[in-house]
Amino acid sequence: MPRKKLIAANWKMYKTPAETREFFRAFLPLVAEHARDEIVVCPPFVSLPAAVEEVRGSRVGIGGQDLFWEKEGAYTGEISAGMLTAVGCTHVIIGHSERRQYFGETDDSVNRKLRCALPAGLIPIVCVGEVLQEREAGLTEEVLRRQCVGAFRTIPGEQAARITIAYEPIWAIGTGMTATPQMATEAHLIIRDEASEQLGRDIARNLRILYGGSVKPENAAGLMAQEEIDGALVGGASLKAESFAAIVRY
Ligand code: 13P
Repeated sequence: MPRKKLIAANWKMYKTPAETREFFRAFLPLVAEHARDEIVVCPPFVSLPAAVEEVRGSRVGIGGQDLFWEKEGAYTGEISAGMLTAVGCTHVIIGHSERRQYFGETDDSVNRKLRCALPAGLIPIVCVGEVLQEREAGLTEEVLRRQCVGAFRTIPGEQAARITIAYEPIWAIGTGMTATPQMATEAHLIIRDEASEQLGRDIARNLRILYGGSVKPENAAGLMAQEEIDGALVGGASLKAESFAAIVRY
């Protein structure tokens, strides 16, 4: 069975609740006929309830952009897996490179968050990817394998089947520089191979690996045509209803 593609939006720190409602009122009619792929949008925490309300009755799912690994407690500013599911989230992004770069996330914190998101029933979208210097130094494979080993540590097999990976080369995020379909395919094969080592062949075969990094309406079709690319994680181009709908309909 071919893997069903997932087209996901990461809004980052954009859109208030009112702007979120405005987006979905424009976006949903544009994708109403679209049943080929799954669609998920990840707004900022405060806009999650507005997003969940707006997509009710549609095929669009809503996800958080991060979570903390404890159920509750004195962790000022943090949000738990249970809080995300309580407001209607089905997905959560974990270990985005911006979290790793600006907020000290490590492979270990990614693993802790993953071990918390999975039992809560969330579908995690775990981000991995190399910086430009690593690619230029020929270290891409080593970096991707290390990030995967770190993320997948001690994940029970029955839960691992729900993991989704997003390969986001950091040099391609927000820069307009997209990985070529060939480069993305090579990276996805490495990730799938490491998933096979860590989680077993069956899970690896069904593992969805999205590509993220300057995905736009103009390059979506070329990327999505690759058998190894199981969808997209879209930043900037997901903020406008028309451009995200064009990507969804590639
Ligand atoms: P851009 O699509 O803006 O490059 O961002 C990609 C990204 O970081 C998605 O998580």
